[in-house]
Amino acid sequence: MHAIEKIREKHPAPFYIYDGKIISEQASVLRKTFPGFGLLFSVKANPFPPVLKKMASLGIGADAASAKEVGLALEAGIPAENIYYSCPAPTREDIAQVIGKCHIIADSFHELSLLEEAASECGRNLSVGLRIHPDFTLNGSPQIPSKFGIDESLVWKTDFSEKYPHLTIHGLHIHIRSQILDTEKLARYYDNVLDLAVKLQNFLGTKLDYINFGGGVGKVYDKTRQSPLDYEKLREVVSCSISKHKSDLSAQLLLESGRFLACDCGTYVTEIVDIKRSHGKTFYIVKNGANGFFKPVLRQMLLPFQPDHIGASYEPFATENDHYEINVLSESSETEVVDIAGHLCSGADIMAKDVAVKKGNIGDFVTFSHAGSYAYSLAPLLFSSQPLPQQFFIDE
Ligand SMILES: Cc1ncc(COP(=O)(O)O)c(C=O)c1O
Repeated sequence: MHAIEKIREKHPAPFYIYDGKIISEQASVLRKTFPGFGLLFSVKANPFPPVLKKMASLGIGADAASAKEVGLALEAGIPAENIYYSCPAPTREDIAQVIGKCHIIADSFHELSLLEEAASECGRNLSVGLRIHPDFTLNGSPQIPSKFGIDESLVWKTDFSEKYPHLTIHGLHIHIRSQILDTEKLARYYDNVLDLAVKLQNFLGTKLDYINFGGGVGKVYDKTRQSPLDYEKLREVVSCSISKHKSDLSAQLLLESGRFLACDCGTYVTEIVDIKRSHGKTFYIVKNGANGFFKPVLRQMLLPFQPDHIGASYEPFATENDHYEINVLSESSETEVVDIAGHLCSGADIMAKDVAVKKGNIGDFVTFSHAGSYAYSLAPLLFSSQPLPQQFFIDE
């Protein structure tokens, strides 16, 4: 709270505040659980330059989904060799911007053609990674269609060196889903990826330089309904799996994470600008609801459709058991059950419904937890042309 008080003396709400110490703590959990792995921060989760600089200072690389994100990562001091560009459908112009500045992971045959064209124009060979949509799934159920990557079955039918003579496939990337909290499933997934990597090496006749397991390491949003992964068990099982594949693979293993590294470092701070009572309900109306921190609003929009059964494909917009700690920073000792609504001209701009909070007054600040990932970068900030939230980074 101390940092929030300091900022509010000089700056109006709304604002985001990110705590670098929490990023360090989260990174050290990943380092202990996955010794020897390279860590990549998914820039889309939070591209705020001080957050990226913090990642750079911890030796964390970047998972960049656009040319702009590659540029942000470089500016933050992340070396080109630690930046992995993977975009579902880059254009020729995108490729021209990133080539030579990072590793490129091809997501489709069309992208491979664009890369082949770019490489042959320069008259040189280009090493690229391949994002594969694997035949295996997290639950062992039959695979479903995906707009991401190249279907595994199509990979085995392709003569890459004949079709793309200027390209060498030197890396494998798979991202099956985000927010996995089942230790056994996650460990089995890593084992499946390693099996596939060996198969790919045998098929290509070359050793891979890197195997990128994508995201997936889940974090607890709602302590009453979720348990964290068993990190010790995960470390043991994954290290067994790596030992099993050791004689076949010499690749650098990579993990991507947006939320695990950054979600808990962020707090969104807004302010009550009006209090209304309507038909027995109390509304605290705050500055920049959806157009500041969208995820809580989306949660309320999706609740009638049971988002906890929607599955993973709506990430990062909808998250299972999405939950926020909400505090009204008031002097009152009373509590009140209220709806917290944003000030947009939309009935859907509701950040929390029937939530018990400290009784507040106009001018009191309201804080939301879990605002370090998919928060500022996910909000429809331009709707209604309100002032944008500011962002602050502390590292104490
Ligand atoms: C390819 C890829 N990697 C990594 C991530 C990061 O996942 P998370 O923030 O859930 O850890 C995402 C999220 O959408 C992704 O699409």
